[in-house]
Amino acid sequence: MPRSTLVTGIGELITNDEHHGGRLQDAAVVLEGERIAWVGAAAAAPSADERVDVAGRAVLPGWVDAHTHLVFAGDRSAEFEARMAGEAYAAGGIATTVAATRAASDATLQASLDGLVDEALHGGTTAFETKTGYGLTVADEARSARIAATRADAVTFLGAHLVPDGRDQAAYLDEVTGPMLAAVLPHVDAIDVFCERGAFDEAASRRVLEAGRAAGLAVRVHGNQLGPGPGVRLALELGARSVDHVGFVDDDEIAGLAASWADGARGTVATLLPACDLSTRMPLAPARALVDAGAVVAIATNANPGTSSTTSMAFCVATAVLQQHLTVAEAVRAATLGGAIALGRDEPRAGAPDLGRIRAGARADLHVLDAPSAAHLAYRPGVPLTHAVWRAGERVVW
Ligand code: NIG
Repeated sequence: MPRSTLVTGIGELITNDEHHGGRLQDAAVVLEGERIAWVGAAAAAPSADERVDVAGRAVLPGWVDAHTHLVFAGDRSAEFEARMAGEAYAAGGIATTVAATRAASDATLQASLDGLVDEALHGGTTAFETKTGYGLTVADEARSARIAATRADAVTFLGAHLVPDGRDQAAYLDEVTGPMLAAVLPHVDAIDVFCERGAFDEAASRRVLEAGRAAGLAVRVHGNQLGPGPGVRLALELGARSVDHVGFVDDDEIAGLAASWADGARGTVATLLPACDLSTRMPLAPARALVDAGAVVAIATNANPGTSSTTSMAFCVATAVLQQHLTVAEAVRAATLGGAIALGRDEPRAGAPDLGRIRAGARADLHVLDAPSAAHLAYRPGVPLTHAVWRAGERVVW
């Protein structure tokens, strides 16, 4: 029998489990091995090998950060500083990171990834997706995918991040959809494209995504980040798991995202990246309108060296509440279960436990706040509130 732990003394328990409205008071949780074994009223809790009393603190599912770019080398703080002094964000900055990443050794990239994952874990992130996209040659993309897969719960192929090295776009896309895709395939479960003016247009984006889909990958899209564009429409047409950024979306696109979930269909998640919106001085995505329309939203960090140099999901949640007018409950759900839905991990898959909920059978990922309720995440913005973290049943932060 795997070792069991009873977590009790919980102030507020956010479960995201629809069976009891997503939230319990006076509750307890039993972890057994890597999974949650039991959730219910503290007074009815079964015994376990050990007992941890969290003394009235709030407990939520670990954050599920569904959009990051963590395999990179180098620093672009000077570019950031210039932007804060009035310069516009230009996707060309990606080339700076590509050069630094190509020049870095495997050990350097691994150490950088490990450091960022550790930083995120100490802020309560227990599951995350990350992308390739700073290699942009067959060998460098394959290396990024392999290193990413050592730590990430999901890896996405983003060979179509930018056309590198002044190459011809059609020739580069032949490579992305041919040998590069084949080289990353053992390590990735989704394909993505930067569908934006200055990166890839609708036809080029469709070509990339269809090639990935034909190879068995899920589809994701960077869309409507820097201006209106075809990203959301394309994501809906291709049945993408998510379209990420969604800063510039009109009422029809919002309605389309909501409609993709109608009648129990599995639709396209709108992933909000508020730290990126702030760091690029772009309008914050219309989170309130998306939720009001019935769209399914996720909140993620977009941690990367160019547009969002943070791993803090708590910062993103606080921004979504304070600036994007989500309620605390909506923002916490989007940063946990929303991320799990965007990754296709909200239900058990191929023997792997589900993420984003505290319910029997789910992966035992718990985030204990040094606060009695999740409201403190926005009520005390910027204050480090992570008290303890369990990931897959292992107590990794306390
Ligand atoms: O999601 N939009 C494209 N990719 C990243 C930016 C990467 C960079 O500037 O290095 C993003 O914001």
